[in-house]
Amino acid sequence: MSARLGDTAPNFTAQTSEGELDFHKWLGDSWGVLFSHPADFTPVCTTELGAVAKLKSEFAKRNVKVLAISVDPLDSHHRWIKDINETQACTVNFPIIADPDRKVAMAYDMIHPNADSTMTVRSVFVIGPDKKIKLTLTYPASTGRNFLELLRVIDSLQLTAKHKLATPSDWKQGEDCIVVPAVSDEDAAKLFPKGVRKIKPYLRYTAQPNRAEA
Ligand code: BEZ
Repeated sequence: MSARLGDTAPNFTAQTSEGELDFHKWLGDSWGVLFSHPADFTPVCTTELGAVAKLKSEFAKRNVKVLAISVDPLDSHHRWIKDINETQACTVNFPIIADPDRKVAMAYDMIHPNADSTMTVRSVFVIGPDKKIKLTLTYPASTGRNFLELLRVIDSLQLTAKHKLATPSDWKQGEDCIVVPAVSDEDAAKLFPKGVRKIKPYLRYTAQPNRAEA
């Protein structure tokens, strides 16, 4: 099965390091990040889980719950968490799914047999409060993800969910946004009272509507 942008995120129940959960119920009205790890006790994954633990408050600020998955069993997760806390100077503060029968991994198409027949790739799914998939990323096992980039993308997703805007290359919170092509100049003037800067008929910028003023 695949899980693509705009699809409803497949629901599941799973054992995790913080008890059993029903994914959709656990998400509630929050945004969610589901991210996979090839295996327990692997070096890149260890650093990634430490990085996410340290960024928990940044995810919480954005109303995002994070959920990791590795196909290894629960007792292995508990032993690995001790190592992560020790080596990354953190406290793992989010659940890690144990998926020994690959139920969740298969539902989200996290095993790419031409890369590896048993381990998952490094998938990321960002899920909105409507339970729809808003973003997918796929990295190979050998490349650790950049979780600051993930926060940046979530800022864009949350902004563009509210406003008829898109965000340009390398956009960061507070920078100018792009008016989407479907909005006429007349409507843009009404929707974006801070002003619209027209470079080309299809390239129009406006200040971020909810930008925190200094
Ligand atoms: C790692 O997490 O370090 C890793 C896992 C599988 C293959 C290569 C690296």
